[in-house]
Amino acid sequence: MSRDCTFLVVGGGIAGVSCAEALTICCPDETILLLTESSVVKSVTNLVPVARYMHKFDVREQNVSDLRAGIGTIVDQLAYVHSGEHWVRTRTGLIINYRYLCLCTGGAAKVFSAGEEELNTRIIGIRDTDSVLELQRRLASAKDVLILGNGGIASELAHELQDVNVHWAIKDAHISATFVDPGAAEFFQLAKQETKQTAATKPTTAIKRMRYSELLPRAEQEEEQQRCKRGAALGPDWHRSFDLAGGCADLAKRAMPKIYYNSQIERVEQSPAGTALSVTLKHNDGKVEHLSCDFIVSATGVQPRHEYETDRPFHLAADGGIKVDEMMRTNLSEVYAAGDVCTAGWSNGAHWFQMRLWTQARQMGAMAGRSMAAVHEGETVYQDFCFELFGHVTQLFGFPVVLLGRFNGQDLGRDYELLVRCTRNKEYIKFVLQQGRLRGAILIGDTDLAETCENLILNGTDLTPYGDDILNPDIDIEDYFD
Ligand SMILES: *[C@@H]1O[C@H](CO)[C@@H](O)[C@H](O)[C@H]1NC(C)=O
Ligand SMILES: *[C@@H]1O[C@H](CO)[C@@H](O)[C@H](O)[C@H]1NC(C)=O
Ligand SMILES: *[C@@H]1O[C@H](CO)[C@@H](O)[C@H](O)[C@H]1NC(C)=O
Repeated sequence: MSRDCTFLVVGGGIAGVSCAEALTICCPDETILLLTESSVVKSVTNLVPVARYMHKFDVREQNVSDLRAGIGTIVDQLAYVHSGEHWVRTRTGLIINYRYLCLCTGGAAKVFSAGEEELNTRIIGIRDTDSVLELQRRLASAKDVLILGNGGIASELAHELQDVNVHWAIKDAHISATFVDPGAAEFFQLAKQETKQTAATKPTTAIKRMRYSELLPRAEQEEEQQRCKRGAALGPDWHRSFDLAGGCADLAKRAMPKIYYNSQIERVEQSPAGTALSVTLKHNDGKVEHLSCDFIVSATGVQPRHEYETDRPFHLAADGGIKVDEMMRTNLSEVYAAGDVCTAGWSNGAHWFQMRLWTQARQMGAMAGRSMAAVHEGETVYQDFCFELFGHVTQLFGFPVVLLGRFNGQDLGRDYELLVRCTRNKEYIKFVLQQGRLRGAILIGDTDLAETCENLILNGTDLTPYGDDILNPDIDIEDYFD
């Protein structure tokens, strides 16, 4: 059995479907095949621009047979790629001959495994923020939950789960919130409490400017000075040195998750009654702690997934992803890759970095499609502008969230300041400034600032003359720059 096509796209996630869709637009007369393991594929819907280079969209699941006309589909699994002779073999033995191949096989959540099947049913893998609410439903009856992982998702989860005792084990000495920062998490938490109260006093707004070194508690400041090369992780207790009076105060009252720093799971067992898990955590210094929980939530990130053989090895990046250049080409000829499976191997611009999010899966998938089409048609394409500026739009706990540029000070070392404006239950705005220039922003709520921030970041506008007025709610900052 064999099939022939011009373009073969492997993977029914956002990257694969976006790639196939881009191909139907660029090369409507060529045969395009999508090979997917499941008859349910993901696609982008309700695409709405939020700023010049940013879109918000929903991800919907649909039957593969309902995909856009022009995309042939095969439900099967990739087993082998012969890049030299341009064919692949599937698990069922189907041979597909292609001219151009794009691998979008995605990532797998790095779910902690307790070894035994029975125990593993109590371990839930979480890989994107969008599944958090679903998880919350599943946890409705739980009393104790152990969260594993130190990424943005884990931290968000630690703050999101309510009416349950949250134990949070992280293998580092710091919380490195990669997705929302602790201030934003605080904002969400308080906003939720607010909705439960009835008295609606006029919300006050707080604005605060901080240098990086002020964000750490004193002991850590000293420790940090000794290791200045490390990245921009905020210390876990940063809010102690951070008074957002009237805006996001009120820290003492809420039940904080119990955090086990420098800890990893040593052993998981069924509790004697069989109704919970007994977990043994081991601290770096050898100390051992025991706890009991109903569930373990494993939010330890995504691992590029490529479980097929190839005739030649790919050039892989350190994180296990298939390395691609700015045209999404792998180092095997006429083989492309996009989405979570790949690692951006081009030298990133000043304002962009890779994060395995749906936004980037869509952008990379479309880029790979256009790139393959251009080679086929003998045309030239340039890398899409979206790779100049990191942008991600999402919805968290009912609020619109925009992340722009180096929104958590990523790779800025110690040389930056934060300017935060927080209005309880309304908005949380954080500007990351370096030498007076905006390098990144977190915008939560209906701030209408996304496009202005894009311009400020890309133009490198010197904001020093405006001081803190840049976030003064009584001044429309757009007016400054018209
Ligand atoms: C998808 O559609 C096909 C044909 O319409 C049907 O046989 C199949 O069961 C559907 N799959 C799912 C997961 O709904
Ligand atoms: C691709 O990269 C791998 C790993 O660096 C290397 O072993 C392989 O020879 C390269 N293949 C080609 C065709 O350049
Ligand atoms: C920034 O650049 C954009 C697009 O090039 C332009 O429209 C805008 O006026 C510029 N803003 C500033 C403050 O320079």
